[in-house]
Amino acid sequence: MTTTVRTRVAIVGAGPAGLLLAQLLRTAGIESVVIDSRSRDEIEQTIRAGILEEGTVQALLAAGVDTHAHQVGMRHDGIELRFDGVGHRIDFAELVDRGVWLYPQHLVLQDLLSTLVPAGHDVRFGLTAQRVEDVDGERPRVIAVDAEGAETEIAAEIVVGADGSHSIVRKAMSGSRAGLYREYPFAWFGILCEAPPSAPELIYSNSPNGFALISQRSDTVQRMYFQCDPDVDPDVYTQEQLWEILQTRVPGTTLKEGPIFQRDVLQFRSFVARDLRRGRVALVGDAAHTVPPTGAKGMNLAIADVLLLGGALRAFLLENDARPLDGYEQAALHRIWKAQNFSWWMTSMLHQMPEASDFDRMRQLGELRSVTDSRAGRTYLAEAYTGWPMESFG
Ligand code: DHB
Repeated sequence: MTTTVRTRVAIVGAGPAGLLLAQLLRTAGIESVVIDSRSRDEIEQTIRAGILEEGTVQALLAAGVDTHAHQVGMRHDGIELRFDGVGHRIDFAELVDRGVWLYPQHLVLQDLLSTLVPAGHDVRFGLTAQRVEDVDGERPRVIAVDAEGAETEIAAEIVVGADGSHSIVRKAMSGSRAGLYREYPFAWFGILCEAPPSAPELIYSNSPNGFALISQRSDTVQRMYFQCDPDVDPDVYTQEQLWEILQTRVPGTTLKEGPIFQRDVLQFRSFVARDLRRGRVALVGDAAHTVPPTGAKGMNLAIADVLLLGGALRAFLLENDARPLDGYEQAALHRIWKAQNFSWWMTSMLHQMPEASDFDRMRQLGELRSVTDSRAGRTYLAEAYTGWPMESFG
């Protein structure tokens, strides 16, 4: 037995990209159905990145999302780059007159779902997309199954893959011609702990022992990361060992320690899909690209894709104008490659390569000094970190 659902836009994936797209379409009077293999609880509780560009918060507010980013989030007007045991502040407010918001992704998801679900939007949890049929036709279809194996077919005018880095929609579009990528010989070990903040702003630290990032979540919960081997088992370290590793990587600051209640390992990859659109099927967010986490571009880039695609779909579905949709890939790639460059650059400048020579390490310190000693260098970092202006069609 297969249940068939008809809608205008089928969105695979209820992450920030899929849900914001649904909200943009809904406010334009365009019906869509969102499916996700996870439960609502899982989506709302998974710990992910924490930094929103001001443009991302504006985009959520402009779309009518009931977000608490400005109330609950913390505004940060700068970050610290630390190397050679000395901190150097990058003053975003002074350099580019912008800031960022520390507001974790799971709260963005709670905001989006508590905007969409009470409004009666069709969001289906526990429904796993298996394939997309008729990719090149006028009515592409998403075939999905629930936990009991019951099949649902969603027939739409447009299918959007917002289904993350292992995207089924991308596979249906491009097969094994997935895209361009590079790997990194390290990962991040992330912890959440109960402690007060160790510093007023985020610290990105280059140390001879490897990179560390001291981030925050609230007055009582902190998020920290350190560079690790990609194959490390998160349970091998005792809490004392984790604190020792972190302390040695932020020389010059004494971290405020407390019980570590969560640990995870984040893999690093840079990836851009070969096709962002084929006919009536398009990709947004991690389905279209992955960035390493240094510089916090992932979710912000996903939101930027959605602003472009949302406008293109409005033109296509309401005015029968296909030109913005035809321009989506090129317009999105413009920002995507800038963000790829920034994320790669922050990563390469701050981490220790396992095979680095003394020359490589000294050159890296020279690069960091070139940034912090120069207003132009600091301004580039500030501009990229806080986000280039968001673009949209129409
Ligand atoms: C966080 C993650 C990042 O990748 C980053 O660059 C800054 C902050 C975070 O999770 O807090």
